[in-house]
Amino acid sequence: MNVLNTFGRVGANVTAVTRSVFAGRDTYASSPSRETISVNGVLQVTGKQNPQSQEHVAAEQYRKIRTRIANHASQPRIILVTSPNSGDGKTTTSIHIAAAMSLQENARVLLVDCDFRCAGASCALNLGPSPGLKEHLSNSAELDGVLSSVAGFPQLFVLPSGVAPCSPAEMLTTRKWHDFLEQALSDFELLILDGPSFDSVVEYELLQMASHGVIFVVRQEHTNRDAWTRARNSVPQEKQLGLVLNCA
Ligand SMILES: Nc1ncnc2c1ncn2[C@@H]1O[C@H](COP(=O)(O)OP(=O)(O)OP(=O)(O)O)[C@@H](O)[C@H]1O
Ligand SMILES: [Mg+2]
Repeated sequence: MNVLNTFGRVGANVTAVTRSVFAGRDTYASSPSRETISVNGVLQVTGKQNPQSQEHVAAEQYRKIRTRIANHASQPRIILVTSPNSGDGKTTTSIHIAAAMSLQENARVLLVDCDFRCAGASCALNLGPSPGLKEHLSNSAELDGVLSSVAGFPQLFVLPSGVAPCSPAEMLTTRKWHDFLEQALSDFELLILDGPSFDSVVEYELLQMASHGVIFVVRQEHTNRDAWTRARNSVPQEKQLGLVLNCA
């Protein structure tokens, strides 16, 4: 088996990666509207960055990952972020990749919280329990009505997983799911799917099948080696985009 490209090596403490770091500026002016998430917690505004700081180094790595995605031969537009185990850093990685990608010119990015049981990205972005993909797929909400924007990231939108009781595994086999992907691809340049761990739930397989490419996250002193081998073997080689070494 070929060695998978290492997309980036992200050190610990990326909780303070900022727009100013991504953009190379220290300005940040925005008054969040009702639908806008203020990004405390995950993408904090910390002002000028010390080039030696962990935040700065991490942001450099996310920019590197962005470049590798943008220049990938397969030009994937639906990217699943997954990992062998829970807690490897899928949600953290998804959010930061989506944010970094959205800072490019003409790059509207939709971050889709596809962790239907834990709502990882929605929680990390302090969205609280709110309607999202489940409601849209069960025809009780229009897509526009359940998207949130993110303060300071004008081209980044978040689709929460939603709160309606439903079976995700069945939901992802419906015509409506495919219609959603089609609509999202016409409205956004890139979809980042914050997914579950690779074998934790049935819907992993369906999300993998729907994606154009998969980014794996492994975490130092956390990810199980056998699980990593199984995770990697579960994805067709042509879909394996790269590996993010988290906390390494
Ligand atoms: N590079 C990092 N630096 C600092 N904290 C991190 C880093 N990566 C992840 N974490 C923290 O570790 C915890 C787990 O990370 P995260 O939620 O991203 O993992 P996950 O793989 O999405 O988990 P789950 O399997 O539960 O969805 C979170 O509290 C997150 O803030
Ligand atoms: Mg998660």
